[in-house]
Amino acid sequence: MKPDDHVCLCFHVSLRKLRAFIKREQPKVPSQLSECLGAGTGCHWCVPFLEKLHRQAQAGAEPDLAVSPESYAKRRAAYREKKEGDQPSAPDKS
Ligand code: FES
Repeated sequence: MKPDDHVCLCFHVSLRKLRAFIKREQPKVPSQLSECLGAGTGCHWCVPFLEKLHRQAQAGAEPDLAVSPESYAKRRAAYREKKEGDQPSAPDKS
């Protein structure tokens, strides 16, 4: 993933923005990354990836994701499709 690729596709939060946020704010827990433009608070697809970025930073490494943006977006689309399929259907009004 390149710096301008989006990690949180719901809120268009790039890897670059997350790296800068992590460097500046030094979040203690991964959930604090949601303070970076709402990352992770939409469909939740990116939450495990945000956790990974946080773990890498905690270990002193440059946060990075070894995945192509195309593959990432495709997997998220499948996740969202499945999630919508899992929603209970509205009861009939009869
Ligand atoms: S991709 Fe980040 S919340 Fe949906």
